[in-house]
Amino acid sequence: MAVALITLAGLAWWTLPFYGATSESSVRSKEEFGWDQITSSQSLTYHDCFHGFQCARLEVPMDYNRSDGQGRRFAIAITRLPAKVPVTDSRYGGAILVNPGGPGGSGVAQVLRGGRSLQTTVDAEADPNVEDPERISQDKYFDIIGFDPRGVNNTTPGFSCFPNLFSQRNWELQVAAEGMLGSSDDAFWRTWDRAIALNTGCSASLTMPSKDGEEALGEHLNTPPVARDMLEIAERHGEWREKQGLAGQRQHDRVHGYDPRQTLVARTRWNQGQEKLLYWGRSYGTILGSTFATMFPDRIHRAVLDAVVDADKYYLGHGPNPVEDADAIFDQFTHYCSAVGADNCPFYVPGGPTAIREAYLALEDTLHNRSLPVRSSATRGPEVVTWSDLKIILRIAVYQPMQGFSLLAKFASELAKGNGSALADLKHGGRSPSCPSSQCLQAGPWSAECQVPGHNEAYSSTAILCADAEYLQSTGEEEFRHNWETLREDSSMIGDYWAGLLMSCVGWNLKPKWKLTGPFTANTSHPLLFVSNTLDPVTPLRSARKMSRSFPGSVLLQQDSEGHSTLAAPSVCVHKLIRKYFQTGELPPPGTVCKADIKPLLGASPTAQERSAGDQRLYDALMEEAQRMPIARLPL
Ligand SMILES: *[C@@H]1O[C@H](CO)[C@@H](O)[C@H](O)[C@H]1NC(C)=O
Ligand SMILES: *[C@@H]1O[C@H](CO)[C@@H](O)[C@H](O)[C@H]1NC(C)=O
Ligand SMILES: *[C@@H]1O[C@H](CO)[C@@H](O)[C@H](O)[C@H]1NC(C)=O
Ligand SMILES: *[C@@H]1O[C@H](CO)[C@@H](O)[C@H](O)[C@H]1NC(C)=O
Ligand SMILES: *[C@@H]1O[C@H](CO)[C@@H](O)[C@H](O)[C@H]1NC(C)=O
Repeated sequence: MAVALITLAGLAWWTLPFYGATSESSVRSKEEFGWDQITSSQSLTYHDCFHGFQCARLEVPMDYNRSDGQGRRFAIAITRLPAKVPVTDSRYGGAILVNPGGPGGSGVAQVLRGGRSLQTTVDAEADPNVEDPERISQDKYFDIIGFDPRGVNNTTPGFSCFPNLFSQRNWELQVAAEGMLGSSDDAFWRTWDRAIALNTGCSASLTMPSKDGEEALGEHLNTPPVARDMLEIAERHGEWREKQGLAGQRQHDRVHGYDPRQTLVARTRWNQGQEKLLYWGRSYGTILGSTFATMFPDRIHRAVLDAVVDADKYYLGHGPNPVEDADAIFDQFTHYCSAVGADNCPFYVPGGPTAIREAYLALEDTLHNRSLPVRSSATRGPEVVTWSDLKIILRIAVYQPMQGFSLLAKFASELAKGNGSALADLKHGGRSPSCPSSQCLQAGPWSAECQVPGHNEAYSSTAILCADAEYLQSTGEEEFRHNWETLREDSSMIGDYWAGLLMSCVGWNLKPKWKLTGPFTANTSHPLLFVSNTLDPVTPLRSARKMSRSFPGSVLLQQDSEGHSTLAAPSVCVHKLIRKYFQTGELPPPGTVCKADIKPLLGASPTAQERSAGDQRLYDALMEEAQRMPIARLPL
């Protein structure tokens, strides 16, 4: 499997190039969709895009507190996977907004890759085109809507921390070569100084208004205004639905004669100022969800918060570290590897899980002392494989064991034999060419022409995280070293990685305009559904329990698997309960625990054969979604 690697200030973001890569060139064929073909507007106006999807650019004020109606605006990029029934159909269930996590993840990309699977989960099982008068009144079918939050991917205005992509790529190569926090004694100050170099310049340019008296982009990228944007999308969806209803009614009346009750109009009416949110957010997306629920508790219709982040920890740094369960996931790796043996786990050594653990730790040690030279090949130049590279594979393994345990077993076994060629190929495959486009060359460094949407994902992540978690901007060396030490105590596997993430806000100097200090608690108009895994590397079950306590009536559904979010392993049981929640509003009984249908390395459980046709479709959709999702690039 080919996986790409980008590292930044001690952090690693991974992507499968065949899904994540975007074209460098801005040249595109006439038929191809481009966001710049859409004029933004304050109402939702959809255009066909990406074969079977619809796209819109919704204008929102940068600063919602500006009462004069003036000021800069964002155009939020929105992609809708249309429901399987018309909006005027009584079975239309509304639009479910989704967020993939991040911060900095693209909801547009999530819907393009995984929208159909999400829809298979939430929609009624029956085919809407097969008439079954008995069911018609109950079954619901949903739109799935992804949006790029402020500062992310296709939402404009965008930003870049670099004059052009060429300089960004050079920077990233150097970061990768230097190694992550913990890789050497030098790594601390080098990473720290890189964070300062990058962040002082980037946050300064984001604080600078383009003209006098105008909003500064960077002060409006944090999560509370994004939650307000979600409310705006829900409202504008109501407005759009009403328009569809009016048009549908006119059409109906022309064909069937005037309907005195105006059923379609009544069904689709915009409840102005009262439209409610349907939402499914993962990881950082649960921060967005709990922020929304805190700010607009009476505007929740359904909200699934999947891989639950502790909001007090995220925003304020209060409470225990989130990595407490990561090492237990590594232990699962050693157990499964030991159980399946050398045929299915190349890193297998006899002597049980303990022996495998020791072999792995010895490998880490060896690579920490000495990197591994890899000679050039027919397809790439020479490389050096390092401890940091192995730690990145390990991080993928604990986030996404289904793909990651096999990767870890493969690479670790080769490295243990002194063979770094496959890992070198992987590193090489993650690099993309970086020639500035001719438009960029013409317009000059820092020009808008030099920005390539989607390529600043890592820096969007930083901009949002550091504005949300202001306390990270002012952490001093001593305090940082102390926090780092506690992270390593809590997880020898990913403590360094997480510390590197926290270090990525050093030198960032920017105060957001609209802040929320908590408490993150509310009585919501409909109870929230929290979902978390038994063992999650960065959003432990403990956080989900805590957040659920803060939202009365909410229920925590536990998926008995390891990894990050419900995507980590397919569970038909979990997804049927999520479907029921969206279909009827009904929550699972408190304390519900669902099994995953597959275990990493071990494979499918024997019950697989007993699935009904409907369950099998759901299972296939989950497997497909997991495969189409890029390997975890963003921290949350
Ligand atoms: C790594 O280096 C240290 C210090 O030189 C040494 O004590 C240790 O044995 C080395 N470990 C390995 C696995 O080579
Ligand atoms: C190193 O591993 C690759 C597969 O990843 C294999 O093709 C190659 O033969 C190995 N080299 C040696 C010297 O064993
Ligand atoms: C940005 O959005 C485009 C669709 O316009 C998508 O293909 C691409 O993968 C997204 N980029 C990222 C980094 O998510
Ligand atoms: C914006 O207005 C809201 C209420 O209208 C208020 O709660 C909030 O503090 C204001 N924020 C700023 C930055 O003025
Ligand atoms: C929720 O409602 C209960 C009962 O009315 C009340 O005691 C509690 O304070 C409310 N919580 C919040 C956060 O408003």
